[in-house]
Amino acid sequence: MDEFRLDSLEGVGPVTTKKLTDAGIHGIMDLLVRGPVDVSEVTGMDRETAEKIVTKARHLLMEQGLITKDFVTATELYKRRQDIGKISTGTNCLDQLLDGGIETQALTEVYGEFGSGKTQFCHTACVMVQKSKEEGGLGGGVLYIDTENTFRPERVVSIAKAKGLDPEKVLDNILVARAYNSAHQTLILEEAGKIIEEHNIKLIVADSAVGLFRSEYLGRGTLSDRQQRLNRFVHLLVRTAETYNCAAIATNQVMASPDVFFGDPTKPIGGNVVAHTSTYRIYFKKSGKKRIARMVDSPHHPEEEVIFTVTEGGVSDPEDETKKKKKSEDME
Ligand code: GTP
Ligand code: MG
Repeated sequence: MDEFRLDSLEGVGPVTTKKLTDAGIHGIMDLLVRGPVDVSEVTGMDRETAEKIVTKARHLLMEQGLITKDFVTATELYKRRQDIGKISTGTNCLDQLLDGGIETQALTEVYGEFGSGKTQFCHTACVMVQKSKEEGGLGGGVLYIDTENTFRPERVVSIAKAKGLDPEKVLDNILVARAYNSAHQTLILEEAGKIIEEHNIKLIVADSAVGLFRSEYLGRGTLSDRQQRLNRFVHLLVRTAETYNCAAIATNQVMASPDVFFGDPTKPIGGNVVAHTSTYRIYFKKSGKKRIARMVDSPHHPEEEVIFTVTEGGVSDPEDETKKKKKSEDME
């Protein structure tokens, strides 16, 4: 796509192009995702010039109709929302909670205690996004940022089989990036633009989005530093999802907070930073063998709860289990 080349922008010559490419900014979309502050930092150009270049990039994409104008009518917004795709979670109950599925152009945050099913939810979404639109997917690939070394291809294989897809093809469409520290985790996302376009990525997973930031910035003295860096990562994730019309899932652990006496004594670790940027927040809780999912602070979903389970086929509806049991009882 020649019209998206960096050097097609006025004022961007070969030297600047090289500096930008070296920093992982390969196209005009990337300029927008990174923003002027970043662009000036990585290229060494002054802030004003960077702002001009990013503004030009924005205008070009607006003319192409790829992004919305700075001021839009509600009708136009409504139309853009029609482009939003939804990925089925693979269950009726969670789809209902999410009003149809995991949305593109948005960040869905899943937080909950260990073993509550966050990683299994992500694995299931990696398979579901690959289904056709008619079957609840978007026919696209996945970028999986694995920060805890918990991505398991074997789980993808068993979920793909359960969903009637060819496991080999499904594995081929998942790009896994293992992040070793929080700076690396951010770098992966900064450089993802090209990969997203080339591989028709429709889902970005950050599992966990918060863990590395938490372990690297221990103690109160570094808390605001940590929040600032985490904030940057999460904003980048949202902007990437909006620019490329992808869905983004970020997982987040909870910690016990002894100062809470009423309600659930757990809070998401990312604290408010993640809370204010994610478009949807779902809270997962263990309840015996079952899991409870609650929609928290959604702009247009009522706050409600559903019950799901985790099986070999990924996150599942509780009825499926009951049906299976009944079937095996009937056979006895
Ligand atoms: P942390 O990352 O530790 O915070 O936890 P998490 O919320 O990511 O938990 P995860 O999604 O890894 O869930 C783990 C749980 O899923 C296990 O304790 C099992 O109960 C369940 N699980 C995982 N794989 C399978 C499977 O193949 N079959 C069944 N029946 N359950 C599974
Ligand atoms: Mg996990």
